[in-house]
This record gives sequence, C-alpha cells and structure tokens, in this order.
Amino acid sequence: INSRVSCTTSRTSAQSELGESFMGVSDVTLMPSFTSALLKATFTALLSAFQFGYNNGNMNTQAGVMRECLSLPPRGPDGAALPTNDAIWGFCVSVFCLGALGGCNASGQLADRWGRKHFLLVNNLLFIAGGLLEALSCLPTCACAAAGGALTGPTVWGTGAPLSRPEVEYGPCVCTARVLTLIAGRIVSGVACGGATVVVPMYLGEIAPPQLRGTLGTAFQLTMVVAILCGQVFGLDAFLGTPTLWPLMLALVCVPALLQLLLQAWLLESPRWFVMVGMEVPAEDILMQLRDTPIDDPQLQEELFCMVEASVAPAEQLPIASAPYNDTRGLRAAHQSRASRSLASMLGDPTLRLPLSVSVGLMVSQQFSGINNAFNFSSTFLKQNGLGDHTVLWITVAMNVGNVLVTALSVYLMDIAGRRLLVLGSMCAMVLSTGMLTVALSNPGHGFAAPLAVISTVSFVASFGIGLGPIPWLLPAEVFGMDERAGASGFAASSNWLANFAAAQMFLPLSTALGGLTFLPFGGVLVVALVLTAIYMPETRGKSLEQIRAEMRS
Ligand code: GLC
Repeated sequence: INSRVSCTTSRTSAQSELGESFMGVSDVTLMPSFTSALLKATFTALLSAFQFGYNNGNMNTQAGVMRECLSLPPRGPDGAALPTNDAIWGFCVSVFCLGALGGCNASGQLADRWGRKHFLLVNNLLFIAGGLLEALSCLPTCACAAAGGALTGPTVWGTGAPLSRPEVEYGPCVCTARVLTLIAGRIVSGVACGGATVVVPMYLGEIAPPQLRGTLGTAFQLTMVVAILCGQVFGLDAFLGTPTLWPLMLALVCVPALLQLLLQAWLLESPRWFVMVGMEVPAEDILMQLRDTPIDDPQLQEELFCMVEASVAPAEQLPIASAPYNDTRGLRAAHQSRASRSLASMLGDPTLRLPLSVSVGLMVSQQFSGINNAFNFSSTFLKQNGLGDHTVLWITVAMNVGNVLVTALSVYLMDIAGRRLLVLGSMCAMVLSTGMLTVALSNPGHGFAAPLAVISTVSFVASFGIGLGPIPWLLPAEVFGMDERAGASGFAASSNWLANFAAAQMFLPLSTALGGLTFLPFGGVLVVALVLTAIYMPETRGKSLEQIRAEMRS
C-alpha cells in the first residue's frame, strides 16, 4: 500500500480508483467520533455561544420593567426629555448589532494572531465588562445628580403613575447617564458577541472530524437558541424580570464567561491553527488527544498531513504522489507557510467568488428572512390580532421552545441529510409560513386570523431552526482554506450583523407603510435566496475541509 491520494481528492472516486487497498491507508471520514477531549473542548467553546444567545434574548421579556426603571416621563416646567422613548429603547437594543459588527471585523485577525483559544478567553473579559455595564445602568449616577439633575420622583413609563419604589429618586441627567451606561454595555457585549460568532464556529469546524463537523457546527446554533430561551424566560416577572432583579438578570452573563475561564484547560487550541503558524508538534499532540489515538496511527498521520498540505502552498504545487503521510516536517521544510490573507486580496480573487458569495448570501438571507422580526415583534402583531397579553406570552415561550427542539433535531440531521437538503427545505417552509402569516395579518377580525397567525409564526420559526438558522454559521468554517478562514468568516459574520441591524431598522417603517403585508418583502427575499442557493450551494457533508476547498475552486 504505497500509493496514496491527495487530501483534496473525492473519497468516493479515490476509493473506487484504488479499490480495497485504499482502505488499508485509512479514510479520514472513518476517524473515531466523539472522544472525551473533543466533547470537553466543544462544551467549553460553546459557553461563548451561550453568552451570545443570552445577550441576544435578554432585552425582550423584561423590557417593560427596564424601561420603567430607566425612564423619566416629561414633566416639570422645562418638560425634561424622555430617556427611554421607543426610538431610544430601540437603539439600546439594536446598537448591539453595531458593536458586533466591530467585533467581527477585529476578531478574524486577532484569532489568527493569538490563536482561537486565547481569543475566546480574552473575549470573556468583554462579555463580563458588557454584562456589568448593563447591570450597572440601574444605579443612579451620583456625580451627575450632584451636578444639578433636578431630582423628581420617577413614574411608570408611559403612564405617569408613581413607580413601585418611590423612595428612589432620579433626575433627568441621572437617567440619561444610566441609559448611556446601558448603551455602552450593549456595545461592549455586541463586540464580544461579534467575536464569538466568528471564532466559535471556526474553532468547532477546525477541531471536528469531518463526519461530525455538521453536528458540532449546529451545536453552536442549538446552544445559542437555548440561551435565547433562558434570556427570555429569566426575564419574565415570575423570575428575574422584576424592578429589583433585572440588573442581576443582565449580570448573569458573567457566569458562563467565568466558567469558560475556569475550564480553559479543556479548551484545547485548534490543531489547524498550530499547523498554520508552523508548530506541528503541539498540533500532533492535540490531535492525538482529540482523536484519542497514538501518534503512529495512520489515520491521524493522514489528517495531520492534510492540514500541513493545506497550510503550506496551493495544493496543485505539492509533491502529492511521492510524499508519505508522515513526512509533514519534510513538507514544511520544502514550502513556506501561507500567511493569512487580507480581505482585500480575497475579494479580488476570482477563485473565491463562489465560497464568498455563498457564505455572505446565506448570512444576508438568514437576516432578511425577517427571523428576528418574528422574535422581536411577534407579540405586537399577535396582539393586533386580538390575542391577550397572557396568551401572547405563552406563544412567545412556545415559539422559543419550538425553536430549541427543531434546532436539536437539526443537530442530528445535519450529517445525515446534508446541508443542501436542510437549507432548501427550510427556505421552502419559511416561504409558505410567510404566505400564511400575510393572509392572517391582512385579515384582522376574521375568525381564522388569530389561529393562523399563531400557527404561521410558530411554523416560520421552526422552519428556520432546521436549516437557515444553523447552516450559514457553520458553512464559512467549511468552505475556506486555513489562510482564508478567519478573515472570510469575519466578513461573512459582519454581513450577518449588518443585515440584522438593517432588517431591524426597516421593520417598523415597513409595517407602517404595508400593514398586513409587512412580511411580503421578506418572503420575496427568501424566494430569491431559495433559487440562488439551489443553483450555487455545494454539499459539504462528510468531506474533508481540504477536499471542499479544492472542489469549490474547480
Ligand atoms: C440565528 C441568527 C440570529 C437569530 C437566531 C434565532 O443564529 O443569526 O440573528 O436571532 O438565529 O434563532
């Protein structure tokens, strides 16, 4: 068994070319699955995904009580400004996306320079700072009060009734300072979340064996939706969404951050990153732990060889046929490491047009499907259809639980059904749900409208969870080469956050202009995305990263 195939050759064709003898060399796709080290590393990295989801969901259910505490209705001879009117509150929520945009842009380069592990550990400091700033927004700012803020008793936001804690007194300038503290906290948390959305999926894609890459990538989305659910449930007034406890609820984001710092020994550095910086020895060591095999295991040697091959030079220039798998050092000696590529060079590279367009296209379609509008504004449009406050609350919880269950199912299906089938099926079902929702919203008052609005909202969210939710996040970790992955993942994630911000800003004006037809433009985007995805998106299930890279450039 002296012959070998390139890391970039399709396994099925290689196997048929070489017959049974190929199996003697080994097949990367048959590597052992979950090992204890892989599970521990995955769990620890997913704590960052949890923080992202928690920050995404924790400004919703307790919004009323926060606005009550932070606001100061216009009163007094000078008619003091409202610190948390709709526009300011909307900004407090969505400024998070702008912070995340900054975080995405910086994180690719930093994760290449510091390594994935150290990036994630440092990122925890931002999560903690952001959570604490948000929580501290509850404190009156003494300096400001001393500087002459007119101290008047606070009242319930929008009603003028006295607040439940009349002993606390704030002035307009104090309230403004508190809202600014909240905004600062949201920006810092956003930066940390942006970093997590780039580095966690990339890290999981790099440590996973090919047959588990989809599962691990989807676990990112699953953890995130569980965290959104926690954020929304903790924010209910039966839990921490009360006038005194909401700061604690915001500060809780520090718990997973501290846990990750404590468990840092489990967070093994990505072996691919070590290879990229020319350190094969620690890469070997970590790969042995992750795959739980000895150093002379031919499968492990093959996997390592493929990583080195991908990191040193374009595949077609390598002495594929002659180099033995275990000659990674020889390979390194003969070829320079590739430096990380700049975004500008990638954007100008015609061979990267397909992977970049598919990654960015899916991210943008994910946000312009209107998913976050369903999450953030469902209570508004369900109430407009005559549903009571309590019913709407339970529908919101049911929607989130449904999202978690369906995403859990997609973790299981991702490496069985494949990415294409799941994402295309998910888009089709979302188009149908958007159609039903539009019928419901444009016929208020009809007996069928309220139940149809509920069914279509829940099916919209469930359809999202099975494909369009997780796949855009895991794909960039699969379709880019080692030297491109960090920059390109950062670019794709930035496009997601920008689209998230734009979709949020456009929803309320759109609903004023279009009424019941508000979701139609989002449905239109989905139809276009469905067609383009069917044409351009490749299947990546079960292939090695090096093989996917080669296929997408052919
Ligand atoms: C995706 C989206 C995010 C959304 C979430 C809902 O991960 O990127 O914006 O809030 O799914 O499940």
